Amino acid sequence: MFTSFHRPLEEISLHSIEVPESWERLESEIQKAKGTVMVIGAPDTGKTTLTRFLVRELCNCGEAVAYIDGDIGQSILGPPTTQAMAVFDGNFRDFGDIRPEAIYFVGSVSPRGNRLETIVGLKKLLERSQAGRTRIAILDTTGYVTGEDAIELKYQKMDLLDPRHIVALQHNQEIEPLLRSQRGRESVVIHRIPSSSRVQTRSQEERRRYRWSRFKAYFRTVRIHQVDLRKVSLTGTHRFRISEKFHDEMEGLLIGLNGPDNFLITLGILEILDRTRGALSCLVPSVAGLEMTQTVRLGYMRIDLSEETNGERFPGLD
Ligand SMILES: Nc1ncnc2c1ncn2[C@@H]1O[C@H](COP(=O)(O)OP(=O)(O)O)[C@@H](O)[C@H]1O
Ligand SMILES: [Mg+2]
Repeated sequence: MFTSFHRPLEEISLHSIEVPESWERLESEIQKAKGTVMVIGAPDTGKTTLTRFLVRELCNCGEAVAYIDGDIGQSILGPPTTQAMAVFDGNFRDFGDIRPEAIYFVGSVSPRGNRLETIVGLKKLLERSQAGRTRIAILDTTGYVTGEDAIELKYQKMDLLDPRHIVALQHNQEIEPLLRSQRGRESVVIHRIPSSSRVQTRSQEERRRYRWSRFKAYFRTVRIHQVDLRKVSLTGTHRFRISEKFHDEMEGLLIGLNGPDNFLITLGILEILDRTRGALSCLVPSVAGLEMTQTVRLGYMRIDLSEETNGERFPGLD
């Protein structure tokens, strides 16, 4: 049902990483007290590397592990703007090789201003993973951790997802303000892990280029697809001033075509939206299952496949 989507494996190799003793201790503590593990930290603290290490090691010990990629900006499992969940069961294959079981369309590459979608998506993916036989779910998150908005978002996330373990990766004490709200909570164990000195930082430009290469790969071959809005509902319209007429100013908007469970079938790029006639046309990659579309959700980014430099956020949004 999903477009297969591969990141070059050398980018995500685990061969040359430093594995401190604290990582091994963490692994055995997770095995003893199974449940949801939330990995949090600023950008470039090693969250994804530690997450992948944990998934691989737990998998090699015979555990079925769900990996939830919550990083909508630098996602590995699904395309940018999405969260995704994959199950690793016994036979570990690296992240770039695995097909997500479910993808949730958030519509933006930053959780700022998109708290609701960010939280709903993670909860849905976690519940989906818990419906199977996995007893450990490891959640990799965005590096959005500083400032009141980020603290509020993470607070609500931790409250709703109720993790058994919170793994806090930090260079200094930078996410202590975020952990403060969890102090009195008996059901959670907080593991403070110093960020490795081997962590490499990536500039905003490198991150943007990575996203763009993922979009380009995703939309490598596209075709036009028509959606009948008398049968399919349009959501996410609240942030746009959409009148009932034709909207050429909406052209290029990233959209998500969702199935009955509100998980993503495919991303699309809006061409024409005509609400009077109930017609929408978009560009989509070649995927199966489009006839299952129940909702089209408007995203918050503009995509122009002919341009190398893309305005990330759709102009004129609230
Ligand atoms: N323990 C480690 N040893 C060696 N390299 C590491 C380690 N942790 C992270 N890195 C490297 O640092 C970079 C950023 O790490 P990453 O896990 O992607 O950080 P984050 O997910 O927090 O942004 C990656 O290139 C990764 O290979
Ligand atoms: Mg990461």
